[in-house]
Amino acid sequence: MATRPYYSSDLAFIHDAGYSDFAASAAPGLLATLKHAGLTRSAIVELGCGAGAVTRALVAAGHHVLGIDASPAMIRLARANVPQARFTIGRLPTAAIPPCDGVVAISEVVNYMAGRGSFVRLFRRVFRALPPGGVFVFDVREPGRPGPPVVNGRVGRNWAVLSITTEDPARGTLKRSITSFRRVGRRFRRTDETHRLTLLPAAELARRLQDAGFVVGVTREYGTFRLPPNHAVLTARKPVKG
Ligand SMILES: C[S@@+](CC[C@H](N)C(=O)[O-])C[C@H]1O[C@@H](n2cnc3c(N)ncnc32)[C@H](O)[C@@H]1O
Repeated sequence: MATRPYYSSDLAFIHDAGYSDFAASAAPGLLATLKHAGLTRSAIVELGCGAGAVTRALVAAGHHVLGIDASPAMIRLARANVPQARFTIGRLPTAAIPPCDGVVAISEVVNYMAGRGSFVRLFRRVFRALPPGGVFVFDVREPGRPGPPVVNGRVGRNWAVLSITTEDPARGTLKRSITSFRRVGRRFRRTDETHRLTLLPAAELARRLQDAGFVVGVTREYGTFRLPPNHAVLTARKPVKG
């Protein structure tokens, strides 16, 4: 885990301005899953809330949301974007998760933790925070096939971003080198960040959630939104009895 949090101010701004599409697509299916679990107007903790794209949808559906994110810049944006929710800076897996009805983490958030032990710690903490019948919904990127680095980019009105993603299948890690440019006055300011993700198969994560006490389902979609290849949604329910 990097000492400094990912998503410094310019990359947080760009994520908010140009990368909220995953959250927007996932939100209706996520809300349906929560409703199916009996969670309406409930206390939801959103891990890795970013700039609040999913928070906004949760609040609009009547939930009371606490957003937690390691990036101070993301939390600043989230507070401005969704003033009806509460936000705090915290880093997984050690961030305190208060008692709540549901916990969500959307868009590869848990992948940002380093090593299997972090997942185990997080799953135990979430289990303790939930009441019987409470749910934990999150998506993950899984290990893919070995291949050459993948280059991606997007351009907005006042920004541009390029990323080079390299997977190490043997180690189960992914490195994403991100170079962003944001217009400041007449110039573009450059920022470089390297994000390191841990990739574990959904089946293994399901087993580890079961070990923590959850009943687990794995799908490849949030409602009608089909995830990209090598991504899965895990829905973990704390049993009502036991
Ligand atoms: C891909 S963004 C997704 C943001 C938001 N969930 C969305 O869908 O727009 C990943 C988020 O996870 C946060 N994050 C990364 N590592 C984290 C950690 N260890 N603890 C808490 N948040 C973390 C980042 O700051 C970032 O906001």
